[in-house]
Amino acid sequence: MQVKIQPASAISGAIRLPGDKSISHRYAILASVAEGTSTLRNYSTGADPHSTLNCVETLGIGVERDGTEIKVHGKGLRGYTAPAKTLDVGNSGSTIRMMSGILAAQPFTSRLEGDSSIARRPMKRIITPLELMGAKIAAVDGTYPPIEIQGNADLQAIDYTLPVASAQVKSCVLFAGLYANGTTVTRESHKTRDHSEIALKEFGADIRPQGTTVSITSGAALTGRELLVPGDLSGAAFFLVAAILAKESNLVIYDVGVNPSRTALIDFLVGGGAQIKVLDVRSSGGELIGDLQVRASKFQGGVIEKGVTAALIDEIPVLAVLGAMSEEGLVVRDAGELRVKETDRIATVAENMRRMGIEIETSHDGLRVPGKQQFRAAEVDSFGDHRIAMAFAVASLFADGESTVNEAEAASVSFAEFYDTLERIRG
Ligand code: S3P
Repeated sequence: MQVKIQPASAISGAIRLPGDKSISHRYAILASVAEGTSTLRNYSTGADPHSTLNCVETLGIGVERDGTEIKVHGKGLRGYTAPAKTLDVGNSGSTIRMMSGILAAQPFTSRLEGDSSIARRPMKRIITPLELMGAKIAAVDGTYPPIEIQGNADLQAIDYTLPVASAQVKSCVLFAGLYANGTTVTRESHKTRDHSEIALKEFGADIRPQGTTVSITSGAALTGRELLVPGDLSGAAFFLVAAILAKESNLVIYDVGVNPSRTALIDFLVGGGAQIKVLDVRSSGGELIGDLQVRASKFQGGVIEKGVTAALIDEIPVLAVLGAMSEEGLVVRDAGELRVKETDRIATVAENMRRMGIEIETSHDGLRVPGKQQFRAAEVDSFGDHRIAMAFAVASLFADGESTVNEAEAASVSFAEFYDTLERIRG
């Protein structure tokens, strides 16, 4: 699908966003191994969290979908049945990495595969700890999907220092830790998003996060819960950037997740001069939710590096767009992980930027975009990557004429209503 985008002078109004992708995955997975029914409200409409639901259904768990309200009929930690077919994770790295933690502890073998992008995502990072715990996992070249997990109902706890901090890998190990004999510990060089820790606690697990170390002891049963998924802050990022850049903007985004392990985005934007207010912060299911108000602002630009890079990794494509129109430009360092996301995002960002007449330099693990540049109308590609589709739809709002986003439907991996929402608030 091609989407044509005209320049915009304002991004204004009030919107709500689909449920957070990261949190939706975790709720679905934990609900599927909890005892009894969980009701998940504002579940993500994105294809990825629905891939997780499809997987738990293939494992014999009942799922009822009523729009964004999902009921998962969990049968307890040992309630899965051996899958009669391959588990299809679609485009979802979170699904394959996090489900693997649970599957490693099952008394059966599971095979997981996804689309052509998934076939290039490295899995060694989960295979190593899960094999240390006692599972056996086969993968293409030892790392690429499809993967086949020979589960072990007698997993052993490990104390594991992650070579690269990653919330997906941490979650995978902690989920396996629900089953492993003893106390499983994960250690990271910096704190990554902690939605799994919060959700595990909500469902009743014996989990103790302490800074960058998390311990989980098996033995506690999980219980079905009623939970509300906060709006997706990473989805909000596209509208925040659009509103900062469009001259007459004034936008409110209601009910967005503002968990401190995700709000590096807001800190970075505000630090560079963006006028963003976080209003009416409240708590639900252990997660923080707030309303964001954003107005057109002059954005200075800046440097993203070290731990901040990791905390902003999903937002870098749209921040690169912001950087090109900022006062001083944007430098991103320590971002080698961008090369193994849904696409090589250093390469796909650079390609689209150049098509739009933007100067950009790249290195093996970063990029530099000078500021005060003007986007030229062009035909850009999503390359099948949702965040690239949405970032360049935003860039197109500031071009000197109509632009086209090819394979624009990729956005629906995390944000099915993205273009409709954009249409509603553009001036
Ligand atoms: C995610 C963690 C991050 C992020 C991804 C979602 C999660 O990946 O980029 O989009 O939900 O845990 P890594 O764990 O690979 O850093």
